[in-house]
Amino acid sequence: MKNLRSIMNGLVLKLKRAIHRHGFRGLLWIATERIVRLADSLRPSVRAEIRMRERRAAEFDQRFGVETGGLIHPTELSINSPNQIHSVSYGGSDPEFFRKAVEALPIDYHDFTFIDFGSGKGRAVLLAKEFAFQKIVGVEFCNELHAIAQDNLMRFRSELSKCENTELICADAMAYPLPDGCLVCYFCNPFDAVLMTHMLLNIRESFLQNPRDIFVVYYNPKEAHVIDVADCFTSVATVGPVRIWRTMPESQACPSATIDNSYGYTTTA
Ligand SMILES: C[S@@+](CC[C@H](N)C(=O)[O-])C[C@H]1O[C@@H](n2cnc3c(N)ncnc32)[C@H](O)[C@@H]1O
Repeated sequence: MKNLRSIMNGLVLKLKRAIHRHGFRGLLWIATERIVRLADSLRPSVRAEIRMRERRAAEFDQRFGVETGGLIHPTELSINSPNQIHSVSYGGSDPEFFRKAVEALPIDYHDFTFIDFGSGKGRAVLLAKEFAFQKIVGVEFCNELHAIAQDNLMRFRSELSKCENTELICADAMAYPLPDGCLVCYFCNPFDAVLMTHMLLNIRESFLQNPRDIFVVYYNPKEAHVIDVADCFTSVATVGPVRIWRTMPESQACPSATIDNSYGYTTTA
């Protein structure tokens, strides 16, 4: 009986601490996400797939002497941006599907800048170095993750590396001005439909001002519908959990056409 009471007291204390740290809404958010993930992970096929991806991620870290693993909820990180509420958990791209998706791009890599929006600990940025991009950029708004990515980039030694022009920027992806030139815009499910819509509006505006080849490569494309209805993109490929879209040259002719902004993004970074 005494044991049960001390367990209950311990649980209440833990709950109080968690509410203090994350707030009631934050805690509800974490709990819901974890329950959904747990329910999903109970399916044997999903369990096997998760194990395989974890193994590939661990192999990647071990081989290149870096640390890109883990799953971290945004409320567990210190992020100084109003857009934190639109962010999803940190988790690196699966190396195998990343490589297959980038290999499927019908491009000469030398002509393109690769940008990872929400670069986290830098796994996708490091993987992109296996391709001869003109430049690789990672944009991450969490200081802690950005610092780990910088450390990883410094330690990363790979005989496979074909691009040394790599830049990591600690900033909100919404505030990052798109460079001129052809682009591969990479998203590993970094944020919700609100920010994805805003991001697409930025890409579209940049494209209409300066029509060029822009690819959107979207891993775990939870908000794919936002791009599917956008007037200046066409879906070109699906590689496992990755979807790829490309700008359509003919949409230069219809600058009045729009992207549905019914998600109503109003917060500025
Ligand atoms: C699923 S992780 C992807 C990590 C990395 N791109 C990879 O594929 O290995 C998504 C990342 O996006 C970041 N993120 C979310 N919203 C962001 C924003 N508005 N600006 C910059 N980074 C953001 C998160 O902090 C997290 O590190």
